Amino acid sequence: MRAVNAASNVRNADDPAAIAQAAELIRAGRLVAFPTETVYGLGANTLNPAAVARIFEAKGRPATNPLIVHVASVEAARALAKTWPDIADRLADRFWPGPLTLVVEKAACVPDIVTAGGPTIGLRVPDHPAALALLEAAGVPIAAPSANRSEEVSPTTAQHVFDSLGDRVDLILDGGPTNVGIESTVLDVTETPPRVLRLGMVKRSDLEACIGKVDAPPTAFDGAPRSPGQMARHYAPNVPLVLTDTPLTFLRPGDGLLCLRSCYEYIPSIRWIEMPADPAEYAARLYCALRELEAFGVRRIVVERPRHGLAERDDWAAIHDRLRRAGTPKEDAS
Ligand code: TXA
Ligand code: MG
Repeated sequence: MRAVNAASNVRNADDPAAIAQAAELIRAGRLVAFPTETVYGLGANTLNPAAVARIFEAKGRPATNPLIVHVASVEAARALAKTWPDIADRLADRFWPGPLTLVVEKAACVPDIVTAGGPTIGLRVPDHPAALALLEAAGVPIAAPSANRSEEVSPTTAQHVFDSLGDRVDLILDGGPTNVGIESTVLDVTETPPRVLRLGMVKRSDLEACIGKVDAPPTAFDGAPRSPGQMARHYAPNVPLVLTDTPLTFLRPGDGLLCLRSCYEYIPSIRWIEMPADPAEYAARLYCALRELEAFGVRRIVVERPRHGLAERDDWAAIHDRLRRAGTPKEDAS
């Protein structure tokens, strides 16, 4: 594995010259990976279909899965929407910049490839100085899925991006580890009541406090996925993952373990990582911990299911969602 600091396509996100170069590349139709507060994004100029096609190619992403478009302001978001409901303003006011993506009707200027041919677009203002500096300097909206090969765990460091995409990306801006650690909450505001399509660290109760009733994410029993990225298996490591309340009954030599208390020292041949008890810290650590265990060469990852009281259920909902998806066997994936 090559270290990012030795790679020619990685630059420090704090360097204004690196931001200027990244903006130039975006305008020239190239790919730039950049940090956001959630995970690293693989960005291209939204308004250039050939540039957006490079994202799908670099990720190996199905053309049926639409991209989230990043903008620097609510005004820039409105310019890409055909209609902008009042609740979108209230939500943007409360949560942007931040880890909330709003799905609205798309404006005619948005190329079809961005939205996978669909009539709606996902928009967000990221809460990261490098992402905002890049958006300002590029002067165009930046379409950016997570900067990993399709189906892999999302990257939370520049090294993860490099390990996953290597030279497929023209420039990687290194802004250190991301704070939130899992992908944004996706909320469809074209429906009444609005519906969460993907859980994230902006909780359903936070949304309801702002705009009133919000529907839960669609389940597997609701028919065709409304958000094409919401397949059963997603965000998964390359080795099998077992989610359990009783790790001791599952552990075999060669396994890796994500546990909540460090009481596993005495088990031989187990690599274990103790996870934080706080949900925000757990989320921030999760993808990195999964990658660390994989890098140790474990045969399988056993995850001790986080337990908590009913009052904290909403705080942990997005984490349980990601753990469930990561644990879905390949043959069940769509
Ligand atoms: O935190 C994040 O959202 C990160 C950072 C880079 O912003 N991005 C991210 O993008 O996770 P991606 O492409 O890995 O996931 C986007 C999700 C997918 O599940 C996709 O199907 C859904 O958002 N999505 C995007 N546009 C949509 C639309 N118009 N309607 C429904 N779902 C949409
Ligand atoms: Mg992704």
